[in-house]
Amino acid sequence: MLAGKRIVLGVTGGIAAYKAVEVCRRLVDAGAHVVPVMTAGAEHFIGRTTLSALASEPVQTSLWDEASPIPHTRLGQSADLVLVVPATARLLAAYAAGLSTDLLTNTLLATRAPVIVCPAMHTEMWEHPAVQANVATLRARGVHIVEPESGRLAGGDVGAGRLAAPERIVEAVARVLDAGPLAGLHVVVSAGGTREPIDAVRVIANRSSGKQGYAIAAEAAARGARVSLVTTVDLPVPAGAQVHAVETAAQMQEAIEQLAASADIIVMAAAVADFRPVAAAAGKLKKDQGTPQIVLEPTPDILAGLGERKRPGQVLVGFAAETSDLLANAAAKLTRKHLDLIVANDVSAPGVGFQHDTNAVTLLRADGSVRTIPLADKRSIAQAVLDTVDDIRGT
Ligand code: C5P
Repeated sequence: MLAGKRIVLGVTGGIAAYKAVEVCRRLVDAGAHVVPVMTAGAEHFIGRTTLSALASEPVQTSLWDEASPIPHTRLGQSADLVLVVPATARLLAAYAAGLSTDLLTNTLLATRAPVIVCPAMHTEMWEHPAVQANVATLRARGVHIVEPESGRLAGGDVGAGRLAAPERIVEAVARVLDAGPLAGLHVVVSAGGTREPIDAVRVIANRSSGKQGYAIAAEAAARGARVSLVTTVDLPVPAGAQVHAVETAAQMQEAIEQLAASADIIVMAAAVADFRPVAAAAGKLKKDQGTPQIVLEPTPDILAGLGERKRPGQVLVGFAAETSDLLANAAAKLTRKHLDLIVANDVSAPGVGFQHDTNAVTLLRADGSVRTIPLADKRSIAQAVLDTVDDIRGT
């Protein structure tokens, strides 16, 4: 998917440099032409031979001893993308300040190609205001930052600062180069349970955690799509997704309907309330006012509305969380709401659906085909859903 793309892979001197080797291998496997550049510090952590053996060209390290008289500009000018894995605090500071002290910093200043930096360092360094200010400066200039993760660090410490997983880094490359299988497509995903106000402090809610919707948004972004995530929950935003925060079914409807006009794929993973109080009390209902009589009215069925107005080529995916007659109920919704695909899950089964990190689903398509995915993490379920959407688009 990265065929013919020329990527300068900068490696700086952090312990995570060894993971740059894996990133390099994956990029080459995906068809990229990888030009490795190491800083002097990086050579303390990995050998040139290792990276040279896996990359498309031998490692370059110096401004002065290359065959080309001007490697400091040539590398940056000819790159489709410059990627730095890992980026140390020093590299971030030099790049933010425009300092060109070695081949990598020269390359960064001499390129007009997109740049991705993947910081990795100890938590104290990562959280230092100077480092955060440099990251903010770079981001404001359009540099893509693949944020470090939390986890085990060198020396046994645990905290934020661990290099993002190699597969996340390669996904970011594909996304920035618009090279994933969903490149150029707009995917709209809804996530979480809606909250319908009873009074100023109380709501009617449901048990949806939003995790499945977020996993679908993350997977769609990783496949290169432009992703709009309409959500009622506040989970870490998947890289590459644009979040639209909403609370009620009415707000979700407004956001989704606006986005639907340009959507190629819509996945309604949200648990939308079916009923809401006719009117929310202005203040807080008091116990001494007696037991309130809450009158409910149906909410608009967002998905059914989308089904009625579906554009040719648009793929519409719904969810059916059921506790009985799973397949019959899901099939009825598929037809009634004019969907291309419905993801049915039996939320009464252990480890399935609401709040869990795992799910087990049956995928029912409008053409009558059925595929069952046994218990798996929600990202794997997201992959199966998007693979099926791919099939639907191809038929
Ligand atoms: O009919 P039911 O609520 O079980 O259908 C579930 C599917 O419909 C989910 O994809 C959910 O996001 C969507 N839905 C909706 N608007 C509603 C209720 C459900 O879009 N008011």
